Amino acid sequence: MFTGERYQKGGGRIIRIKRRTRWPSTVSIQLTDEFRRLSFYTSVQMSDLIDEAMQDLIQKYIESGRYRPVKEEAPVYQNHTTFLCCAANKGGVGKTFTISSFGHLLGKKKRVLLIDADPQGNLSKKFGYIPDDNRGNKQQLGDAIKEILESPIGQWNNVEAFTLPTPYPKIDIIICTDTISTTRLMVNDAMIQQRNPYKELFTAIDALQKYDMVLIDTRPSIEHDMVPIILAATKFFIPLTPDRDGIDGANDTLKFITQMKGKSVPDADFFAGFYFNKVNANTMLAHQLIPQFRELYPGFVLQSVTTIGEDVNKAQTDLTPVTDKYPSSRVSKDIAKVLKEVVERIGEK
Ligand SMILES: Nc1ncnc2c1ncn2[C@@H]1O[C@H](COP(=O)(O)OP(=O)(O)OP(=O)(O)O)[C@@H](O)[C@H]1O
Ligand SMILES: [Mg+2]
Repeated sequence: MFTGERYQKGGGRIIRIKRRTRWPSTVSIQLTDEFRRLSFYTSVQMSDLIDEAMQDLIQKYIESGRYRPVKEEAPVYQNHTTFLCCAANKGGVGKTFTISSFGHLLGKKKRVLLIDADPQGNLSKKFGYIPDDNRGNKQQLGDAIKEILESPIGQWNNVEAFTLPTPYPKIDIIICTDTISTTRLMVNDAMIQQRNPYKELFTAIDALQKYDMVLIDTRPSIEHDMVPIILAATKFFIPLTPDRDGIDGANDTLKFITQMKGKSVPDADFFAGFYFNKVNANTMLAHQLIPQFRELYPGFVLQSVTTIGEDVNKAQTDLTPVTDKYPSSRVSKDIAKVLKEVVERIGEK
C-alpha cells in the first residue's frame, strides 16, 4: 500500500518517489511458509515459533544497545510511599500552581516532600529557594542524581542532604535549577544500561519513612528526560486548560505515560486523572469541550475544576502558594476540592 510520497531533486529534474510502508504480500507469504514448514518438522505450534523468533530478535537488538525495552513492572517501594507526579506536555497549564497548592494544603497535616524536577525551578521559588540564589548550591536534584550515578547501584545513602526545609514545618523540598541539564547525558547512558537513578532516589526517600506523600513537579515535556521520572513515579495526574491546544497536549501526555508504563490503555493503577484548570465558566468553549473530553475518557476526568483567578498570579509574584496567600479565594477553594478528589482516587487517606 502506498501511503506517502516524497519528492527529491536529482540532475535538475524532480523525481517522484513512492514509498512502500507495508510489506508486499510476497514477504508475508514467504514468512508464513517458512514458519509452517518449521512447525511441521518440529511439531512446535506456529504461534510459539513466532514468539521465539521475536524474542531472539529483541535480544539481538538489546545486546547491540540499539533497543531498550520498557520494563512493565510497576516500581515497588517497600514502604509504599506514593510518588504523585504532575505531568503535562504543554507549558503553562498549571502544574506548578497545582503541586504548590497540593503541597501547602497537605502539609497542614501530613509530612510532605516536594520534588522540583523542572530546571525552571518554579516550585523551588515558591518554597523559599530562588534559582538565581541557588545555582551554586550543591544540594539540588541534579547533584543527587550525579551522586547516585557515581555510587554503586543501590548503595547511595545521602538522601537527607537533599531534602531541604521550607517555611512550612511539615514540608521539605528537593530543589532544582537549570544546572540539572548537565546530568542529562549521564542519565541517558545509565538508562541504556538499565539503571534508573530516579528509581534509586525514590527508593532512598521511601526507606526514610519520613514522608506520607511525595509530590513531583515536572517540566513541560514528554521528551526522553521525562522517561526515568515516569518510570519511577507511582501515580500521575495531568492538568489541562479547556482549549484545543490544552486537550491535544493532555492526550499526548497520557499516551506517552501509558506507553512508558508498558500498558496499551491507561488504568487507574497509575493514572489519577485529568483535571481542568483556568476554567472560565462563562465561555461556550468550556461548556462544550469539558463534557466532550469526559466522554472520550470515561472515569478519567476529575469532577472538580479550578477557575481562572487573578489571585494565582498575585500569589506567584509574592512567591507563595495561593492557598497560603489567599486561603479563602475562589481558586484556593477550587484547588482544595481537586486535591480531595485526587487523594481519594489514589487511595490515600
Ligand atoms: N487557575 C489559574 N488562574 C489564573 N492563573 C493561573 C491559574 N493556574 C495557573 N495560572 C498562572 O498561569 C501561569 C502558568 O502556571 P504554572 O506555572 O503553574 O504552569 P506550569 O504548567 O507549571 O508551567 P510550566 O509548563 O512553565 O512549568 C502562571 O503565571 C500561573 O500563575
Ligand atoms: Mg511549572
